[in-house]
Amino acid sequence: MTLLRDEDLTAAFDHASRSYDALTAANPGYRAHLRRSVRRLGLPGDGAGLRLLDLGCGTGASTAALRAALPAARITAVDASAGMLRRAAAKPWAGAVTFVRAPAERLAEAGVTGPFDAVFAAYLLRNVSDPDAVLAGVRDLLAPGGRLGVHEYALSGRRADRAVWTAVCRGLVQPVASVLGDGRLYRHLWRSVLEFDTADRFAARVRAAGFTHVRALPLPGWQTGIAHTFVARRPEAAR
Ligand SMILES: C[S@@+](CC[C@H](N)C(=O)[O-])C[C@H]1O[C@@H](n2cnc3c(N)ncnc32)[C@H](O)[C@@H]1O
Repeated sequence: MTLLRDEDLTAAFDHASRSYDALTAANPGYRAHLRRSVRRLGLPGDGAGLRLLDLGCGTGASTAALRAALPAARITAVDASAGMLRRAAAKPWAGAVTFVRAPAERLAEAGVTGPFDAVFAAYLLRNVSDPDAVLAGVRDLLAPGGRLGVHEYALSGRRADRAVWTAVCRGLVQPVASVLGDGRLYRHLWRSVLEFDTADRFAARVRAAGFTHVRALPLPGWQTGIAHTFVARRPEAAR
């Protein structure tokens, strides 16, 4: 199958938005792992005075992880899918959270401008046509020294981890998704992970985009070797 991109992917997420929260709730650790990745950003205190960008916020699971760890931060949450975003915006949010519909490739046109103290992107970069361009755009939106957190299915490169990924998708995820009418999106999920960077390769991609302090950190549970947190920083401004 060919991967879904741009408008086709957005339409698939619009449709899948109806069952997205139920499906992710059935995934052990989904929300706890997002919170773990946010903590790995290492941002200080309760986030008072910080501006955060949640890129590809979906129905708000990653936004909720940011809000839980950093309750006083101001959050801008962006997604290309109107369906996903509508569900996110309909949830009760404490504090300052602004939702914006925009593709990650065209943030300025939607009025999303930096500087941000941190950008968090959960399960987004594997889905974009040009991850290097999106990473470069994110780097430019960050304040000097600002943090990047990417939470992503990026395989270890071990055959066993590829096999577990395929078994979980074929045996559990795809049968349920097909019944819900979202078979194409979840076949894309399976295939996009197999075709995406390994964790080492993605860390190198982040470095090549001009970030420093790049680390790839494993996540626990069945996702070990399958999903990682990547943390990095925009360099401090040259003096
Ligand atoms: C797998 S969901 C993850 C949602 C959320 N971050 C979470 O952790 O649950 C990926 C989201 O990225 C959005 N997305 C995919 N490509 C995008 C793009 N180019 N620009 C903005 N959003 C995009 C989709 O609409 C979808 O809501």
